Amino acid sequence: MRIVWATDIHLNFLRPRKRADFFESIRSEHSDAVFISGDIAEAPCLQELLREMQQAIDVPLYFVLGNHDFYHGSIETVRREIQAWCLTQSGLHYLSALGPIELTPKTVLVGHDGWGDGRFGNYEQSPVRLTDQELIRDFQGLNRDAVLAKLHALGEESATYLRAVLSEALESYDQVICLTHVPPFKEACWYQGKMGNDDWLPFFSCKAVGDVLMEVTQEKSATKVTVLCGHTHHSGTVDMLPSLRVITGSAEYGDPCISDVLEIS
Ligand SMILES: [Fe+2]
Ligand SMILES: [Fe+2]
Repeated sequence: MRIVWATDIHLNFLRPRKRADFFESIRSEHSDAVFISGDIAEAPCLQELLREMQQAIDVPLYFVLGNHDFYHGSIETVRREIQAWCLTQSGLHYLSALGPIELTPKTVLVGHDGWGDGRFGNYEQSPVRLTDQELIRDFQGLNRDAVLAKLHALGEESATYLRAVLSEALESYDQVICLTHVPPFKEACWYQGKMGNDDWLPFFSCKAVGDVLMEVTQEKSATKVTVLCGHTHHSGTVDMLPSLRVITGSAEYGDPCISDVLEIS
């Protein structure tokens, strides 16, 4: 099975011609499916651009959502609406609501959005303020402590979901692919070939998901787990365990690209 993976494609920043060129570059890979690890667009145009993309590439599209996908909306509402809408659309699969998906008899796909959960780095001292806090309704009007509590809760929500689906997936398959937007380890939080610093790590890594990945992979070390993520827009690969690899894809606003083409047995 041949898979195209891309991340942080931010389609809302592209003119229609540029979007068509990007979709054509995916089509020319003749893949059986496409994975997108979040930051596809922004809430008001998300459904329209997902539909346009799936029709253009003409193969099943499996995705999770990134923080930008909730801009000008609220997290719970966007998730609920996309989940319900995808059930009515052929070829569009929102992983955060689907459980494990068998790709081949040996390989299964799982995924959840993830969120920068404020646990790595130094949230208290960090001068970083993401646009998330202005453009996502859940964060508007919250003080700094309340924002941190929300980040923790969003990370926990992803971790709880992934603990259940990963445990199920690792029982029955030789290989698990886990799609998530936010790098789940600080070692996977790449910035210009190095690990992000303590100012950025709180927002660019999801420790709660990383803890779950370590725990379930250690229990079932014969199963190979590959995590595909994005969010930092800088690429890198790290093996956290012999059977746990995390690949972070690069991205550039206005110029989306294919991060990798995977051959899955
Ligand atoms: Fe992004
Ligand atoms: Fe992001």
